[in-house]
Amino acid sequence: MRCIALINQKGGVGKTTTTVNLGAALAELGQRVCLVDLDPQAHLTINYGMEPTADVVSLYNVLIEERSFLEAVHTIDTNIALVPSSIDLAAAEIELVSVLGRETILKEKLKSAQHDFDFILLDCPPSLGLLTINALAVASEVIVPMQPHFLALQGVGKLLETVALVSRRMNPALKVSGIVLTMFDSQTKLSTEVVNDLNGFIENAKGKPLPWANAKIFESKIRRNIKLAESPSFGQTILKYEPQSHGAADYRALAREVFAHVPGAAKPVMAPVAVPQPTMAVKPPALPAPVAENVALKPVAEKKVSVTTKPIEERKLVAAKVRIPPKPAPTPPPPVTPAEIEALT
Ligand SMILES: Nc1ncnc2c1ncn2[C@@H]1O[C@H](COP(=O)(O)OP(=O)(O)O)[C@@H](O)[C@H]1O
Ligand SMILES: [Mg+2]
Repeated sequence: MRCIALINQKGGVGKTTTTVNLGAALAELGQRVCLVDLDPQAHLTINYGMEPTADVVSLYNVLIEERSFLEAVHTIDTNIALVPSSIDLAAAEIELVSVLGRETILKEKLKSAQHDFDFILLDCPPSLGLLTINALAVASEVIVPMQPHFLALQGVGKLLETVALVSRRMNPALKVSGIVLTMFDSQTKLSTEVVNDLNGFIENAKGKPLPWANAKIFESKIRRNIKLAESPSFGQTILKYEPQSHGAADYRALAREVFAHVPGAAKPVMAPVAVPQPTMAVKPPALPAPVAENVALKPVAEKKVSVTTKPIEERKLVAAKVRIPPKPAPTPPPPVTPAEIEALT
């Protein structure tokens, strides 16, 4: 299983769009994919037409309560499952402050599901707080979605510092597989300059014991495409909403590249050929490997979620409704600082 955290502390750079559509394209390649919504804003959850309400078992219940990871897994489509977020997740960072091992709760919970999926994609919030640290502690890889922007490199420095720290202290296997450029416009001089700067930065790390020493800028750039912005309003991925669009082509290309590029692997892995299988049933979860006797293993719960195709206006109302918090949200704690991580580990 490959567990990939999609991280950038900046909002609006395409993390959620990439999680949704890279996930869908990997599923189209026959991979069993689980998407996890770690953002209290729940955009990934809403993108799939689910309402992040308290009556759905969500990531909050997994992190705070005794619920297992698989209890929160909702089957969405062929080869795709989702662990939804909820508004309560904003409070989780505060509720977990005094919990021992709070940075590795997700890692512990995910152990029971590692044979059920080929890819787990973690859609992170736009901060380097406890939820993002939980993602970095369990992930094997990091992908950084980034808009080519003249300040882009500045943010990446801080982000990679955090990745390096978590890698050193908690998760030595963590590697940055690459940077995916989103909302890309090849015509602009700025895009070319950002790519050159990033390439220089990565080149500098080659051969050094840094988690991004084998990172790359993915060849597949995600072009700006209005269809990508429209598809969430219909609770659909770009592959369903507009399969012939640039957006669909770019995410299909990215999926093949991500599949083939395993950071640390000696040779590139050949990407499988996508075979359209509209009638294929959802693959049953793979048989778990033999484990110690008293460990109970459960199959993935078949909780089929109705994916809505309500018109935009109606869905906007749903989205607006779920964004109103039922109670005043407590002030989130400041991001976990390197010094704090040092102290905890
Ligand atoms: N390639 C693209 N072309 C056009 N719009 C995009 C593209 N990628 C993302 N968007 C839009 O940009 C906004 C921010 O994207 P999102 O994936 O939610 O970012 P993040 O998760 O990093 O906050 C959304 O409205 C999304 O629909
Ligand atoms: Mg997002």
